[in-house]
Amino acid sequence: MVNYPPPPYKIKMVEPINLIPREKREEALKRANYNLFNLMADEIYLDFLTDSGTGAMSQTQWSAMMLGDETYANARSFLRFKKTIEEFTGLPEVIPAHQGRAAENVLFGHLLKDKAGSWVVSNQSFDTTVGHIMYNGAKPVDIVIEEGKDPQKVLPFKGNMDTAKLQSILENDADKVAVITLVLTNNAGGGQPVSMENIKQVSELAKNYGKIFALDIARVVENAYFIQQRESGYKNKSLKEIVREICTSADAVWMSAKKDAYVNIGGFIALRDSQLADKLRERLILFEGFPTYGGLAGRDLEAIATGLQEAVEGETVAHRVQQVGYLIERLNEEGIPVVLPPGGHAAFIDAKAMLPHIPPEQFPAQALACHLYLEGGIRSVEIGSLMFGRHEEGKFIPAPMELVRLAIPRRVYTKAHFDYVVDICKQLKEKADEIKGMKITEEPELLRHFTCKLTPIS
Ligand SMILES: Cc1ncc(COP(=O)(O)O)c(C=O)c1O
Repeated sequence: MVNYPPPPYKIKMVEPINLIPREKREEALKRANYNLFNLMADEIYLDFLTDSGTGAMSQTQWSAMMLGDETYANARSFLRFKKTIEEFTGLPEVIPAHQGRAAENVLFGHLLKDKAGSWVVSNQSFDTTVGHIMYNGAKPVDIVIEEGKDPQKVLPFKGNMDTAKLQSILENDADKVAVITLVLTNNAGGGQPVSMENIKQVSELAKNYGKIFALDIARVVENAYFIQQRESGYKNKSLKEIVREICTSADAVWMSAKKDAYVNIGGFIALRDSQLADKLRERLILFEGFPTYGGLAGRDLEAIATGLQEAVEGETVAHRVQQVGYLIERLNEEGIPVVLPPGGHAAFIDAKAMLPHIPPEQFPAQALACHLYLEGGIRSVEIGSLMFGRHEEGKFIPAPMELVRLAIPRRVYTKAHFDYVVDICKQLKEKADEIKGMKITEEPELLRHFTCKLTPIS
């Protein structure tokens, strides 16, 4: 039996949760058009929709918020934010933004300007990044290693980019490549980490071909923890040192602070080139606000600064990763097909393996996510063909994997909650062959999984 150590914190404030009866859950799901984003908070018992902005802040973060300086320009809170991020990333230019996709809007809106048809090559761009790339008329090209698409393959760094493919793209189509990125950890591919070796190789290739190399560091501290634990030569390096080594390998980084900075809102871009930074600030003023607050209140800047400092100290991240690992190992022990080895922020159930009778075009992971809610009031999110599948020239192109993600909010749930999830998954496994596929009845042009309507196929 797997286990994990007690949390390095105790609970000071609680928020009630309640499991509504099955008939009410059925009504709620129907009203939500089988899209779990449309459920109301009070209709959910355990919410694993996302680990983004859903964590519990520390007492130090809450007290830092009281020191928030709300001066419009050059607030004390911005100076602290800037200094902390400079130290955290090792990069001198710091641009606040209200969340990750706002940073993407500023960064990709500039880098892809007048570059319609160009490519953004990544291990696996996340959905909001894909949205911004496509909105700017460019194309996401994902080249995660082949093993990264095999849920059962156990490798330490399944989020790595296939550098042979990158080399070949650069040799044959360098003109088409506008930006090269890596997502740390690879959220869309099971939360799998990227090795320092891979980051350095990609950085080198980008440099050789004069391409901008940018990192999506939403979960960089978790990625650094995996490097410390799994990559040779890093055992004795601190998380702080590893994070800096990662970030300084790139020209720019952007972060949704709602993950590894342990806050409910916030983000930023950090980079080396001051001329590029000034160009980004022009866009920032248009979309986010003055360059010293970028869509955030002074109190938010304080909470992020404290959150980032705490994230790389003590047992915070080690405990979190072990807690997530506990859920994944327990599901695996019970024969629930999960992405292995455990990644950083979520358990990913392999819906293709659990519901082999449902083809990708009938969204098996969405069907499973709906049944997790019906069975146990648990909200998860589909990361499969609903999120990433598309039609090209009339042909359906499925996502590489059909996953149900149970993203674990930071410092929110206890071991008993995870055991409950395992019990519900066991019950579902027993009746897996009764679960039916789904079809879309209405969808928007971009990022359809957030708002589309679905119905079960009878
Ligand atoms: C890897 C990654 N990049 C970018 C984003 C977008 O960040 P935000 O939700 O703060 O806009 C997310 C959010 O989940 C993410 O996981």
